[in-house]
Formats: sequence, C-alpha cells, structure tokens
Amino acid sequence: MPVIRFVREGRDVECYPGENLREVALREGIALYGLKGQLGNCGGCGQCITCFVDVVGESSPGSLSGRTAVEEQKLRRRPQTWRLACQALVNQSVLVLTKPQTGLADLDQKVQKAKAEPLAAGPTAWPVQASEEDPADETTTSDEEA
Ligand code: FES
Repeated sequence: MPVIRFVREGRDVECYPGENLREVALREGIALYGLKGQLGNCGGCGQCITCFVDVVGESSPGSLSGRTAVEEQKLRRRPQTWRLACQALVNQSVLVLTKPQTGLADLDQKVQKAKAEPLAAGPTAWPVQASEEDPADETTTSDEEA
C-alpha cells in the first residue's frame, strides 16, 4: 500500500494504489486548499488550479501518475515538481507538501526530517465512510449494552 507523507501536516496516510491524491487528502481532512480554493474550487476537474502540491520525495520514480495534459498547460510556469492533486494518482509512496505557494518557516527542516524517516506501514483496511458503516454493528452494540 502506498503511503502519502504530508510534510506540512506531519501525517502519513495510506491509500490503495491508483487512488486520486486530492480525494485521499480530502477524505483524511488534510487542508489541501488555500483561501481561494476554500472559497471555491472546481471539485477536481483540473480547472481552478488551487490544489497544488509539491512532490518533495518519491519512493521510486513514477510514484505518481504522469502529468496530464491539463497539468502541462496549467502548471507551465510552476516548478516541475508541482502537481495538481486532483490530476495525480498515487502508485507508490510519496512525500508531498500541500499549499507550496504558502510559506513555511521551517520548510527545509521539515522536508529533511520527512525524507529521513522511513514510511510507516499505516492501516491496511479500506477507509469506511460513516454512512457506509454496517448497521449490524450498531445492533450488536445495542444488544451488548442491554
Ligand atoms: S481541484 Fe481544481 S484544479 Fe484541482
């Protein structure tokens, strides 16, 4: 299972290979967007250019899917390591900096520390949405309480 290390947040999140980076970040409560993106974003269509991440490390080349045509166009004036999270699929473990356009006082230290620490294994179960939880579990809990 790939692990996404969010450097700014100091969190490791495991995902299934091929998962969309934006979707994983939002599911895990990672603050992916700056103010502009919070006020309005395209919902992952690659049009608003507010879901930037900087890929600061990879477990191997190609940890993320290749840049899409949308990214080539929208990111042509940005560093080559920047990606649109909504366009990137996670194939292998990767270290990313969210909101790279926003300063971070101890950025170099955080990046060095993130690169130095081995990636944690993380949980292995598919994340379950609260609405998808098995109602039988609630029944079991109620029975146990009675
Ligand atoms: S969410 Fe709009 S470009 Fe990624």
